Amino acid sequence: MSELIKKTIRCPNCKHVFTITGLPGEIKKVVCPNCYTIGKIVFEKSKDIAISVSHLTKIYGDLIAVDDISFEVKRGEVFAFLGPNGAGKTTTVEMIESIRKPTKGLIKIFGKDISKSFSEIKERIGVLPQEFKSFERLTVRETLEYFSSLFNKHIEISKSLKEMNLEGEKDKLYKDLSGGLKQRVGVAIALVNDPDIIFLDEPTTGLDPKARREVWDVISNLKRQGKTIFLTTHYMEEAEYLADHVAIIHKGKIIAEGTVDELIQRYGKGNTLHINGNPKVYEFLKEKGFNVEISRNNGVTMHILRYSDILEVLSLLKDNNIEYDSIDIRCPNLEEVFLTLTGAKLLEGTI
Ligand SMILES: Nc1ncnc2c1ncn2[C@@H]1O[C@H](COP(=O)(O)OP(=O)(O)OP(=O)(O)O)[C@@H](O)[C@H]1O
Ligand SMILES: [Mg+2]
Repeated sequence: MSELIKKTIRCPNCKHVFTITGLPGEIKKVVCPNCYTIGKIVFEKSKDIAISVSHLTKIYGDLIAVDDISFEVKRGEVFAFLGPNGAGKTTTVEMIESIRKPTKGLIKIFGKDISKSFSEIKERIGVLPQEFKSFERLTVRETLEYFSSLFNKHIEISKSLKEMNLEGEKDKLYKDLSGGLKQRVGVAIALVNDPDIIFLDEPTTGLDPKARREVWDVISNLKRQGKTIFLTTHYMEEAEYLADHVAIIHKGKIIAEGTVDELIQRYGKGNTLHINGNPKVYEFLKEKGFNVEISRNNGVTMHILRYSDILEVLSLLKDNNIEYDSIDIRCPNLEEVFLTLTGAKLLEGTI
């Protein structure tokens, strides 16, 4: 008989925490016992789970850097662990990689407790640490040869150079590479043992937009090959572009989790219409009873429930000969989700 799975759930509406049990593969309707919000829970079959973390905690002196977090990462997905500086991302990921020791909690990779089976699990994971640096005076080829020698199983260096588009750089010294190429070497090192799970801690921080795109392409390609990717980032566009599943961490706690669309639907405030260039627009719409706010450039911001609202507003302005410079319509994004949940911006200056 199948084993019952117990899940701890935090209600996305009232934050009440409760547990629910189900069978592997079962999809259950859930009602929050506190606020009666209705949701759906999938009890994945254990073979579909790559990483499971329960009640993970890390305390440094007086600081609770990671505060009793639980989550699961499915096989073959890109899981983005999104949060601002100091949120606890690296501490969490390094506990999963067995580099740091948890104060409390259980971590399983492919169903095995990592504190008991790490030597076996080590062969199946690849790691790109935050602010990765390699040996300055080794060439790209020598670097990959060195890291390959640390594992029992490894892929051919020529294949790795080809996959990472590093063939033209193979004889260059690491120190002479651009930032983007250095990161690609870092990802290539993480892949030398042909791992099933790859941990990438802030792989694009400090890169220019072109180099960032190149790293994104590498990650998309790894996903196509069926690898599971644990991506740590504070760039919401990165999570939006790459992730199947996002967990937002803030001050050591996971404050929201789901697909990008689910999070935006749950916490975003809907689309906004911006009409720029004429302060009279604000007065006029306010008089007509619309809920509007003043924004930059003598502009007006208005939350839109339906697209027909846009037509109604623009027709009214036209019929009353009220001119403006431009309009734009903005969709909600993860930045707005973060702002709604914490009252703070994820990255200063992004909106
Ligand atoms: N070895 C340590 N000793 C004491 N405090 C630490 C240690 N490592 C991290 N911290 C603290 O724990 C908190 C979480 O740090 P962590 O590096 O996990 O955050 P992060 O989300 O990865 O941030 P960043 O985006 O800047 O990389 C921070 O307040 C940090 O200063
Ligand atoms: Mg970090």
